[in-house]
Amino acid sequence: MLIIHNISSLVTVRASSLPRFGQEMDNVEIIEDGYIVIENGKFIEIGSGDDYLKYKDAKLVSGKGKTVTPGLIDCHTHLVHAGSRENEFKLKLEGVDYLEILKQGGGILSTVEKTRLASFEELYNKAKKSLDIMLSYGTTTVEAKSGYGLDVETEVKQMEVANRLNIDHPVNVISTFMGAHALPNEYKDRREEYIQLMKELITKVKYEDLAKFVDVFCEEGVFSIAESREILEYAKTVGLDIKIHADEIHDLGGAKLASELGCISAEHLLASNKENLIELAKSKVIAVMLPLTSFNLNKDFFKARFFIENNGALAIATDYNPGSSPSENIQLAMQVASIKAKLTPKEVITAVTINAASALGINEEVGSIEEGKVANFVIFDSPNLEYIFYHFGINHVESAYINGKLAYINKTSEGVHNETL
Ligand code: NIG
Ligand code: FE
Repeated sequence: MLIIHNISSLVTVRASSLPRFGQEMDNVEIIEDGYIVIENGKFIEIGSGDDYLKYKDAKLVSGKGKTVTPGLIDCHTHLVHAGSRENEFKLKLEGVDYLEILKQGGGILSTVEKTRLASFEELYNKAKKSLDIMLSYGTTTVEAKSGYGLDVETEVKQMEVANRLNIDHPVNVISTFMGAHALPNEYKDRREEYIQLMKELITKVKYEDLAKFVDVFCEEGVFSIAESREILEYAKTVGLDIKIHADEIHDLGGAKLASELGCISAEHLLASNKENLIELAKSKVIAVMLPLTSFNLNKDFFKARFFIENNGALAIATDYNPGSSPSENIQLAMQVASIKAKLTPKEVITAVTINAASALGINEEVGSIEEGKVANFVIFDSPNLEYIFYHFGINHVESAYINGKLAYINKTSEGVHNETL
């Protein structure tokens, strides 16, 4: 048994396993001088004061001066890929458009070239390094999209790396198939054939259990509304849940498509018009804001305030990838989202816990600190939740626990609780 006691600020986000919509996002329970009791990898009691003293023989860790939250959930990343694209940095500063770089065979397609050439081990080692970084920032669950193979062999390799890391690494990894991330050069004049290939691959993904979700990059010059619809409808018929990269740069009506098809989540949405966002909020699709992508591409930010005011459920993620968002730092995403979209720290913590869990269909198991749920949580070296946002750009994590076990401890905190990994 493990007890974290006298926690200055225990942010439970409990009271429901459902996603939180609208005003509910700001209604977050914070217990002062709280404690949590963990046994067999689950939370068995949440309380305050000295009541925890009734438990004998427990390992005790002091939470004095600390903030404890549920483990953070990064529900949108492109974790598994090869190489990097710092060569695009200069082009970006010169104002060359993201889609223009892709059109010239760079961008996503240059990462595809490198990923096809990389071995399983190379992809595994690079992704593992990123998972270590994510964990150090408090992320305990990560979604990982394929989409840098664009052929059967490499797409499968990417998903297998994600699934292997889910077993080997303490962080939970949930795999998404995103073969429709770009049209590979060899299919340039055969779009329809590529869509057929996607359908074949989706069937394989389902029957070989390679991924839980299917995602499509619906964007001008990438996949149209009609093509996205065809792929996602097919995924639904084989029984996979669907996601969509929608209206990232142009307002093609991706948000509307997400409502119509009943996607579990819709991502980016920077360019979506207000009417479609209202529709999206009504249809209960979770909107995933990716603030680091907006920051890094120097674009607008998702109208998250508007979406919440229309009773929408918001999640926030890093979009970690080698092009539009080469950062694993979920705390930075939280801070930028708060400042740029005027979201309260409580709304943001909801967005990276229970709502992110809902975007991944795991909200019954994780996403809040409550009795019976899996004991994934983070101890921040911060006296309250607001301080984490206020003192920005640094890492506040002291330690992170997954399944009730210490998974990460900040070097400077080693020994503070007599803990080692
Ligand atoms: O979510 N927009 C499409 N996919 C990624 C970027 C991928 C890349 O640039 O390599 C995104 O922004
Ligand atoms: Fe993305």
